[in-house]
Amino acid sequence: MTTAHINAKKGDIAETILLPGDPLRAKFIAETYLEDVVQFNDVRNAFGYTGTYKGKRISVMGTGMGAPSIGIYSYELIHFFGVKNLIRVGSCGAYNKDLELYDIILGMGACTNSRYDHQYELPGTYSAIASWDLLYKAKKIAEEKHIDVKVGNILTSDIFYNANPDAYKKWANMGVLAVEMEAYALYCNAAAAGVNALTILTVSDSLVTKLETTSKERETGFTKMMEIALELA
Ligand code: HPA
Repeated sequence: MTTAHINAKKGDIAETILLPGDPLRAKFIAETYLEDVVQFNDVRNAFGYTGTYKGKRISVMGTGMGAPSIGIYSYELIHFFGVKNLIRVGSCGAYNKDLELYDIILGMGACTNSRYDHQYELPGTYSAIASWDLLYKAKKIAEEKHIDVKVGNILTSDIFYNANPDAYKKWANMGVLAVEMEAYALYCNAAAAGVNALTILTVSDSLVTKLETTSKERETGFTKMMEIALELA
């Protein structure tokens, strides 16, 4: 089953997949953490791999940036390749003043300024939420590993360079912890198909303090988040 964007056969992809935005992070995760790795995709350099972690089959694939991009890949993974658990592992910009670089967030819900949910023609606003099972398991794994995580609301934004640098404050005032660009679309696709999704984020920069990590650090520096995500296999 080759789709427009994934050149793989049904069965090549595990039921549980980790989804970093950066395809090179997918490669790094596969090379660093998985055994018996087979690459299943290279279309558009959206590298995808399947291997095992502690004996359990798991896949990892780069989604690209933004709701449209993760919308395409997650839809095809769910509907054409039978993926049941989609775990985004990404970076985010902190909106909350108490968050520091490398803090970890479990995205319980996602707000958005995108129009992704308009396709469902709902008579209102859709609240995109994580799968309770995955969220609960991730929190428990974090506790067992003594990794501190914040659980809460995030914003999936279509805009990285906002014309109004203070726009984030309105979301922050509503308790939104951080901004990224994919969770809302992932949660919508999972909900519409009746499968599970979770977003785990590491703070890579802060809109409040203006501190930021380098792209090299982003590729390799997110070990704690990976330890939680891999245990969900
Ligand atoms: N904005 C949007 N997405 C992000 C950011 C940000 O500041 N940092 C990491 N992902």
